[in-house]
Amino acid sequence: MPEIPYPLSTERLVLRRFSPEDLQAYYAYQSLPETARFLFNEARSLAECMERVGRFSRAEFSKQGDWASFVVERADQPGLIGEIALKWEEGGDAQHGFVGEIGWTLAPEGQGHGYATEAARAVLALAFNTLGFRRIQARLDAANDGSRKICERLGMSREATLRDNWYLKGEWSSEAVYSILLSEWQQPN
Ligand SMILES: CC(C)(COP(=O)(O)OP(=O)(O)OC[C@H]1O[C@@H](n2cnc3c(N)ncnc32)[C@H](O)[C@@H]1OP(=O)(O)O)[C@@H](O)C(=O)NCCC(=O)NCCS
Repeated sequence: MPEIPYPLSTERLVLRRFSPEDLQAYYAYQSLPETARFLFNEARSLAECMERVGRFSRAEFSKQGDWASFVVERADQPGLIGEIALKWEEGGDAQHGFVGEIGWTLAPEGQGHGYATEAARAVLALAFNTLGFRRIQARLDAANDGSRKICERLGMSREATLRDNWYLKGEWSSEAVYSILLSEWQQPN
């Protein structure tokens, strides 16, 4: 697979590699219960964030199971406001295409502007046009309306609702699985 050509640029955003200087901004939103509400993890401690930022900064995207993590920042105002993650899943190969998973999180102050959708669209473009992916999926709590709407805006199809699939934060939650294929990405809107 080709190397990821960090940074990516969109109309309003820059998507770059993590660096150790991102720790405080990352911790500021990862430590909030509202950020973790629909996720497996609880609000993260400073030590957890330190470990993650260090790992993301050094991460390689060279084999199945690897994650690429992109810092999302505004082009006109540097500083991390969120992240996009792309996982290289098991299943495909270089000849026939790779399969992956995408995820997104924004700090509260970054929400409500379309930044997650814009950033995710750039990562999908990279995955399909440059890296050789054939399928990208997203897995989310079916009650996570913000995340569901991103999938819909990206043109992803809902292919499953796994009922009461997670016991999460004191209650049963259902999981929604969305995906988009290379052939769908290439279709003109
Ligand atoms: C999921 C999450 C990223 C969604 O954030 P978001 O800000 O709603 O998503 P976007 O950045 O794509 O912004 C879309 C919103 O901005 C609005 N918007 C405002 N100005 C806009 C503009 N210029 N362009 C596009 N959209 C704009 C859109 O109308 C939309 O609002 P709506 O959903 O009320 O219609 C966020 O809630 C989050 O980080 N949650 C915590 C972590 C999490 O659950 N992650 C998902 C795990 S699966």
